[in-house]
Amino acid sequence: MSLHLTDITLTYPDGDSRLTALDSVDLHVDKGAMTAVVGPSGSGKSSLLAVAATLITPDRGHIVIDGTNTAGMTRRELTTLRRNKIGMIFQQPNLLPSLTAVEQLQVTAHLAGQPIRNAEKRALTLLDGVGLRGKAHSRPHQLSGGQRQRVNIARALMSNPAVLLVDEPTSALDHERGAVILDLITALTRRNGTATVVVTHDRAHLSGMDDIVEMVDGRLRVGASSE
Ligand SMILES: Nc1ncnc2c1ncn2[C@@H]1O[C@H](COP(=O)(O)OP(=O)(O)O)[C@@H](O)[C@H]1O
Ligand SMILES: [Mg+2]
Repeated sequence: MSLHLTDITLTYPDGDSRLTALDSVDLHVDKGAMTAVVGPSGSGKSSLLAVAATLITPDRGHIVIDGTNTAGMTRRELTTLRRNKIGMIFQQPNLLPSLTAVEQLQVTAHLAGQPIRNAEKRALTLLDGVGLRGKAHSRPHQLSGGQRQRVNIARALMSNPAVLLVDEPTSALDHERGAVILDLITALTRRNGTATVVVTHDRAHLSGMDDIVEMVDGRLRVGASSE
């Protein structure tokens, strides 16, 4: 369980030319380790996660997820890889309004081709693990913002991913709730042995990280200070 991005360059079309969103970026995250990515808005943080998630193919460089090089894989193979190996947590939970917490997780298992019945037990265990015992049958409108983000986290772990990619998970929460959510992600990273990358703009959340890297104009600076 590890994530290796090597020499990643990504450009987007920009009028008559191209905008370089990622410039020769290297990022390596080991099993059970947590790397924080900080940096100003527009510096390429979300693009980096999208490349790591195999949602965008870079112009150059390669991505190795849990020992598998994604170069040359078909769309279908990438979809399978994503469902089995990658958990994603974005800023907004994007829960389905009509489903209960446990059903949100079961749907994910169903999409990954796992039988829905077996999934229920795992879903309940995961919800318990994020502190939502007793909320398993609540729908999103019956949950607080922090609780919805916990459902989102539990859902991302449903496939027992090797790699966990997290984009500004606390931006919709106040400082204290944000700190609790990051502590939870750290604990789950250690417990499940995922290689975790967290984009965050809140520097107060960086104390538990194994590594902190800073993006500036698409380039990565390693060993950024947590001050
Ligand atoms: N789909 C896209 N098409 C064109 N330009 C994009 C696209 N997504 C992001 N960008 C540009 O790439 C740069 C990096 O964006 P992004 O990765 O979202 O940065 P961050 O997450 O650090 O705010 C920005 O200049 C942004 O405007
Ligand atoms: Mg972003």
